[in-house]
Amino acid sequence: MTTYRICMLPGDGIGPEIAAEAVKVLEAIGSRFGVSFEVTEALLGGAAIDATGTALPDETLVAAKAADAVLLAAIGGPKWDTTDPEKPRPEQGLLGIRKALGLYANLRPVRVFDALKGASTLKPEALEGVDMLIVRELTGGLYFGPRARERDVEGAGAQGALGMRAYDTCVYAEFEIERIARVAFEAARTRRGRVHSVDKANVLESSRLWREVVHRVHEAEYPDVELVDQLVDNTAMQLIRYPAQFDVVLTENMFGDILSDEASMLTGSLGMLASASLGDGAALYEPSHGIAPDIAGQGVANPLAMLLSVELMLRHSFGMHEAADALAAAIEGVLADGWRTRDIADATTLPQRTVGTAAMGDLVAERI
Ligand code: IPM
Ligand code: MG
Repeated sequence: MTTYRICMLPGDGIGPEIAAEAVKVLEAIGSRFGVSFEVTEALLGGAAIDATGTALPDETLVAAKAADAVLLAAIGGPKWDTTDPEKPRPEQGLLGIRKALGLYANLRPVRVFDALKGASTLKPEALEGVDMLIVRELTGGLYFGPRARERDVEGAGAQGALGMRAYDTCVYAEFEIERIARVAFEAARTRRGRVHSVDKANVLESSRLWREVVHRVHEAEYPDVELVDQLVDNTAMQLIRYPAQFDVVLTENMFGDILSDEASMLTGSLGMLASASLGDGAALYEPSHGIAPDIAGQGVANPLAMLLSVELMLRHSFGMHEAADALAAAIEGVLADGWRTRDIADATTLPQRTVGTAAMGDLVAERI
């Protein structure tokens, strides 16, 4: 029997609750498809800071590298929120592991389930035909460029006095743009053949290089794919004006972070948006949402983005397409039957079909 080794990083907030549902569903998939999943947990984020003083302990990195795939639930929380640059932050764990594993390509599929059209804040007719893939560059740009806080800078205080100044830098090298552009064009070939490359080339130098390189890769290697340049502010507007125009949305790190949260609302809830972070070696799968501190520990969080991340793992890391299809169909069936966690419930949801995290996981696992 094939055994897949998964490094599970439950993290903080609702993380451990939704991680448990992923394990439950993996067991169901294992028994139906005759494989086994060996899931080992490691610490990341706030949980790791509390236990070891650092958000990404060496042991975690070793475990992640040794695994066939990494599953991450969510990290962060008010407990570790600080603006002090000397203090550790949970996010350093996430950014550190993305960088250390070379996970430069973040894929965020935005799929609207028919049953959830009423849960979106947009009118159902605006959601007709929405099926897009956001391809977000994940290891460059503002998140990783030179940054600093400078003290006692002349003119930085009120009325020209000494004061503090801070900067972050958006840096992109040609090769980083080339490789993420290829990911987007390759994906478009298996979909509807269109890439929107999102930048701010009317203002930013890094965006002008982005646009040049994307066009070069397009002309040389993917002339069969349609390429549309779109400025990021326009994209933010188009996403809610006419989202069905998008097939693959290619963008740099920070724009992708912002636009994917926006796009998640097309699906009805941030709790529905999965992601795959791919590089040359290992891959990491995680929901796009955060730790939901307002509902952590209550057993009401939506585990579906986590389960949809498991679906992506089955496809991209293990080539288990039949199992991935079965999982997707199970989720679709559960939603079609009217079951909802409260974030995706609407006026038509029966109160007795509004369920918590574990019940939602049970429903999906039973269908598999
Ligand atoms: C995401 C998250 C992270 C990001 C945070 C938690 C560092 O918002 O994956 O979208 O900004 O990349
Ligand atoms: Mg984000």
